Amino acid sequence: MSTFIKTSEKINEIILITECEDGSPHIAPFGIRERDGLVLIAPYRPSTSLDNLLSGRRVTINTTDDVRIFAGALTGRRNWQVVDEGDALVLESTLTYQPLKLEKFEEDTLRPLLYFNVLKEVNLKPFQGYNRAQASVLELCVLVSRLHMLPIEKIVSEMDYLQIAIEKTAGYKELEAWSWLVEAIESHRANLSGDNFA
Ligand SMILES: Cc1cc2nc3c(=O)[nH]c(=O)nc-3n(C[C@H](O)[C@H](O)[C@H](O)COP(=O)(O)O)c2cc1C
Repeated sequence: MSTFIKTSEKINEIILITECEDGSPHIAPFGIRERDGLVLIAPYRPSTSLDNLLSGRRVTINTTDDVRIFAGALTGRRNWQVVDEGDALVLESTLTYQPLKLEKFEEDTLRPLLYFNVLKEVNLKPFQGYNRAQASVLELCVLVSRLHMLPIEKIVSEMDYLQIAIEKTAGYKELEAWSWLVEAIESHRANLSGDNFA
């Protein structure tokens, strides 16, 4: 068994904002764990986030219920409003944010492990409760990120199931995020069947 995963570790999906060399914010979804009192982030190489995380520049965890930011990162839409709070880079839609400081680095050619201390935690908006459509969008994000690894039949049948929660519980943000992901799947499907001529 891999030494990376410990079975009792919960993973939370967050938006990581790192600072690029030119000062601009880089937005990317990451699954984070808590390990030994530190936050563990494990980026696959190559990664702009990884380069920024190792640079010593600012890095901030943002939690948001706007799933368009997750779906947008996978479909070329990363132009979200970010507020510079001095010690943190903060999404306009964020519920909470936590600036981090790198504490420990474990090198790996495929997926290094980076451990961070949380410098502070700021709560801006209350958690509104679970929304099934948001969970469906996140699941479809994961499928879209594996488009080239999974059979298209599996993706389509899982999408059909996830769509039930979309139809029953989505608001406009979830619908918009869903539509971007479906578009990416349709485009991939057309490419597979040779229907997409550039
Ligand atoms: C819900 C979700 C969780 C993700 N978690 C990780 C992760 O833990 N590690 C990783 O390398 N990429 C993860 N990704 C993919 C990255 O967000 C994506 O590859 C990103 O562009 C990182 O590359 P970049 O730093 O070059 O932007 C995740 C994507 C989604 C949608």
